[in-house]
Amino acid sequence: MQNFNGKVAFVTGAASGIGLGMAQAFVEAGMKVVITDIRKNALDAALASFGEKAADVRGIVLDVTDRKAWSSVADEAERAFGPVHVLCNNAGVNISGRMQEATYSDWDFCLGVNLGGVVNGVQTFVPRMLAHGEGGHIVNTSSMGGLSASKGAGLYCTSKYAVVGLSESLRADLMDQGIGVSVYCPSAVQSELFESTAVVRPAALADSGAAPPPAPDLASRAASPIFATAMTAEEAGRRVLAGIRRNDMRPCRTNRRTRPGSPRWAKRATCRSTRNRSPRPRRPRRSYPIGLSRLWLRHCTVQRGSAHSLQSWPTNQPAASASPRVCHSSQ
Ligand SMILES: NC(=O)c1ccc[n+]([C@@H]2O[C@H](COP(=O)([O-])OP(=O)(O)OC[C@H]3O[C@@H](n4cnc5c(N)ncnc54)[C@H](O)[C@@H]3O)[C@@H](O)[C@H]2O)c1
Repeated sequence: MQNFNGKVAFVTGAASGIGLGMAQAFVEAGMKVVITDIRKNALDAALASFGEKAADVRGIVLDVTDRKAWSSVADEAERAFGPVHVLCNNAGVNISGRMQEATYSDWDFCLGVNLGGVVNGVQTFVPRMLAHGEGGHIVNTSSMGGLSASKGAGLYCTSKYAVVGLSESLRADLMDQGIGVSVYCPSAVQSELFESTAVVRPAALADSGAAPPPAPDLASRAASPIFATAMTAEEAGRRVLAGIRRNDMRPCRTNRRTRPGSPRWAKRATCRSTRNRSPRPRRPRRSYPIGLSRLWLRHCTVQRGSAHSLQSWPTNQPAASASPRVCHSSQ
């Protein structure tokens, strides 16, 4: 998508944090935006933050796990602004703890919102986008936890890895239909994730073995180094907008600390230049369309228009050859 003016976006989990940052970036680009969230009070506060642009924004309460509500909320959104062109499945919860201590309720809560919410958004809006035929883009919010797993984050990582897989496949499925798909995998972003997770967990799924970490109060968290150096939600929103414009598979996930010019970036650049002086001959590099790491290999294959070959691998062929992140046995 190149032209955003007058187009319509629908963002879940947009009462705060990254979702609100996306909505702000979309409004600045001239779009009409439907912001949805399960937390009504936070949604009202978010709406008020748009000031004189509030006419371009509509707030609707939506629990992304509620399949029945999705279609009526989609109808309401279309009545307000017309057909939706950009769908951002962003609502999420953060649940942590060791997997051996997790309960079924923990799993259902985490997967229900983080993965089920994305599934429900896709099921609701893809047919509508195909029907209006004006093209569009879908952004699913995953995480760095959807690209690399870590101790104590098994439930969260499971849900976020699934969102990456869903998005990559959906991108291939929709690439000839005028609908782009991106998966956003940020590292730390300033948001209310700890606080909101504690509020939105339904009583029916409250039996917890792997509870979310206790939420520190906002003031002390804002002063903590990890929060202070994290990307702002506004910046995250602008990066997502730029990623849609470029039709990135994964909009830039670089943190502020690794942005060009930052101390960490400088350190890495030094390492790179040291490596470059190594007497070992360097392997010739494959050239990719934009600055891409090996993780992007599968994306490039899709981007270059060979989605057909992705879908038509015979089962006895080592599909892993196109997927550098997956190890297969020799069988
Ligand atoms: N903040 C980070 O560092 C970070 C890093 C990587 C990924 N993420 C992901 O970004 C997304 C947005 O989170 P955030 O960090 O902006 O936190 P946030 O708490 O500010 O936003 C998440 C929003 O989702 C809403 N939500 C939760 N359950 C919901 C449900 N069932 N239905 C509808 N809305 C629901 C919450 O009310 C909240 O407004 C999440 O998917 C999160 O996993 C965040």
